[in-house]
Formats: sequence, structure tokens, C-alpha cells
Amino acid sequence: MFVVRTLNSISPAGLSKLPQNLYTLSQDNPQPDGILVRSADMHEMELNPNLLAIARAGAGVNNIPLDRCSQQGIVVFNTPGANSRSVAELVVGALVMGSRNLVPAAQWVQNLAGTTSAAALAKEVEKGKKQFIGPELKDKRLGVIGLGAIGVKVANMALALGMEVYGYDPYISVDAAWNLNRGVVHCVNLNDLLRKCDYVTLHVPMTPATRDTLNEKALDSCKDGVRVLNFARGELVNNQAMLAALESGKVSCYLTDFPAPELLGVPGVICTPHLGASTPESEQNCAVMAAEELSDYLKNGNIRNSVNMPEVVQPRSGSRRICLIHKNAPGLISSITAVTTQAGLNIETMVNKSKKEMAYTLLDATGAVPADLAGQLAEIPSVIRVRIL
Ligand SMILES: NC(=O)c1ccc[n+]([C@@H]2O[C@H](COP(=O)([O-])OP(=O)(O)OC[C@H]3O[C@@H](n4cnc5c(N)ncnc54)[C@H](O)[C@@H]3O)[C@@H](O)[C@H]2O)c1
Repeated sequence: MFVVRTLNSISPAGLSKLPQNLYTLSQDNPQPDGILVRSADMHEMELNPNLLAIARAGAGVNNIPLDRCSQQGIVVFNTPGANSRSVAELVVGALVMGSRNLVPAAQWVQNLAGTTSAAALAKEVEKGKKQFIGPELKDKRLGVIGLGAIGVKVANMALALGMEVYGYDPYISVDAAWNLNRGVVHCVNLNDLLRKCDYVTLHVPMTPATRDTLNEKALDSCKDGVRVLNFARGELVNNQAMLAALESGKVSCYLTDFPAPELLGVPGVICTPHLGASTPESEQNCAVMAAEELSDYLKNGNIRNSVNMPEVVQPRSGSRRICLIHKNAPGLISSITAVTTQAGLNIETMVNKSKKEMAYTLLDATGAVPADLAGQLAEIPSVIRVRIL
């Protein structure tokens, strides 16, 4: 029986992945085996010695003390891609919104409030609507920068809308490449994409390398009148350069989920209040994914989508599974197998992977496990945590 503590309210769909015959759910147990969290700040929280894992229902892990977790052998999971559908749909909405000038058009209609005669209103509408004419998406070119969980969905949806889609991602994962529609044109450099596209959308993480991806030079390379969408992170676009490009007409519309004071009220800018992941489905997907990752680790020692430990997922074989979290140091494997050989265990499968300074070794073995095996393995220098399942 594992105790799982929830630090925030977690969607029932997620909690249903932790059945009562295996898990006791609690909001205040001070000695949990696992923690499920959304936004609660854990930096000042004491991490009990038997705590095995923390799963965050969401992508960012700023609220979790990662260094302390690694030192204590606590695996931290997140839920990358769980909100990708939610963001991708919003981007499709923004493509239409930006192309057809929906926000200024709706504002303009609002300003006709007070017109009491239906006939006068109809006349006003007919006269005024031409200022909001905007192009259809069909046959226009969309450039997608970053083809991960969100970028791939946006690219595939845009193709389904009849757009020509160009993609740029020098680090694309095998999974993403499998999911990407073959109709997406591969661009090997960013300039190539920028100079061709009528619409450009960003889906890369914010890192020192991606900050200001759209700076003055990049915006200069774009087609005149390009529409830019940024539903990834504000800092990916240099706002001063963007304001200048809007002023000159190089950019006709900038749609962003990241409002900044200098952008508000500027013609051509449409800001939404970081709505990308704000759907009930997204919250549910995150909770389900977090609970499944936590459960698979507690029950089987499998690590999928951890931010501080390597990915190790193995079907079970043998009679017992031995899981070791240790420092990524030389000589560990021979020390571990020396102990298991001495114990008379036959290793069926063995996986060892590292992530930066941390490493994980998972052994499936047959044979009788001596009572003191975990203690012996724990004595090996650099070993942080041993579990025998
Ligand atoms: N608006 C929102 O509410 C919201 C919600 C979720 C995510 N996001 C943002 O969207 C971003 C993308 O999310 P995701 O789930 O698709 O992430 P992901 O990790 O699945 O994909 C990111 C992709 O960017 C690529 N990449 C990295 N550096 C690049 C570069 N220099 N040039 C081109 N491609 C590069 C990676 O190879 C990867 O394929 C997140 O990092 C986050 O900042 C925003």
C-alpha cells in the first residue's frame, strides 16, 4: 500500500488512476510515498525520508526544490505535452482571429452601442465592415518554429485547413517526427522559413538560445505584412523590434498569449491572458498523466517524463526488480553486480542510464533475495536509494 499526498486539488480523472486497493490518498499525511502537486510551493517544505517521488500535474517545475529531491533520491515527474491540444486549438483560433481582424472588428461593433434604430445599425455595419477585410487561410503559408508536442499538432491542423506548412526544428524528436504529417515542408534554417511564410508561429521552449528568436534581424527577413503568433513564451520575441516592425507595416498583426505593458493598446497587437492551457481537458490530461507516471514508478520502478532522473521504462521480467538511484559515477555497475552475484541472483535484464549527475539502474533478477540485500547495495558509495519490488 502506498500513501499519496495531494498538495492541491487534483482532477478526479487523475485520482482514479490510483485505486484504493493499492493507494491511500491523503491531503495531510506527513510521511507520503508519493506527492501529487499542481502549483503549491514546495521550496520550504520538509521532504520526508521515505518520499519516493513527486509528480507535478503540469509542465513547469519551478515550485519544486529539484536539487534537494535529487540529493534525497526523489524522482520528480512532470507532464510534457498534456496540454498540447489545448494550446494548438487556441493557435488555430488565433490564426483565424488575426487573419480576419476579429478583435478590432468586434471592438468596433461594441462601440456602436447606443444606436437604437436597427436600420441605422445595419447601414453603419455595412459601411464600416470593409475596414476589417482579411484573407482566408487556405493556400497561405504557415511557418512553425519548434515541432514538439504543440508545434506538430499546429502544423497538422493547419494542413487540414488547407494551408501550406513549413516547419523548422533542428532537434526534432523521433516521436514528433513520426506524428508530423508528411505534407509539412522541412526548412533547414530559420531564415528560409521566415522569408517564405505569411504567418509564423513559435513553439519552442524559452532558453538562452531561443530568447529573442524573433529579433530585428529575423523580423527583417520576414515577408511584408507577416502575421506572427506567439503562444510559447513572451521572451522569444523582442518586443521593441516587434513594435518597430508593426509601425513599419512589416508585421501586420502580432498575437501573443504573453501581455507586456509596452504591447497593450498598440494597433495590430492582440494579447490574450496566458490562456494556452486553460481548458478543463488540459487540467484533466495533466492529472491523469501525473498519476500514471507516479503509479508506474511506485509499483514498477519505471521512470517516464522525469525532470531530474533518466528515462527508464522496462516491462517486468524475473521474480524481483531492484531499483537503484545513484550518482553518475564510474565503477558503480560492477559494484552492484558484485553484490547481486554474491547473493546468488541471476540477472534477467539490466538497464543503466544517466541524466547529468544522476543515474538509475534497474535490474530484473531471479533467485531468492536475501533480507539484507537492499542494505548491502545501499552501502555502495554514490548509491542514494535502493528499492526491491
Ligand atoms: N501558452 C501557454 O499556456 C503554453 C502552454 C504550454 C506550453 N507553452 C509553451 O510552449 C512551448 C512548447 O511546448 P511543447 O509542449 O510543444 O514543448 P516540446 O518540448 O514538446 O517541443 C519543443 C520543441 O522545440 C524544439 N526546439 C528547441 N529549440 C529549438 C530551436 N532553437 N529552434 C527550433 N526548434 C527548437 C525542440 O526540439 C522541440 O521539438 C513550451 O516550452 C512552453 O513555453 C505555452
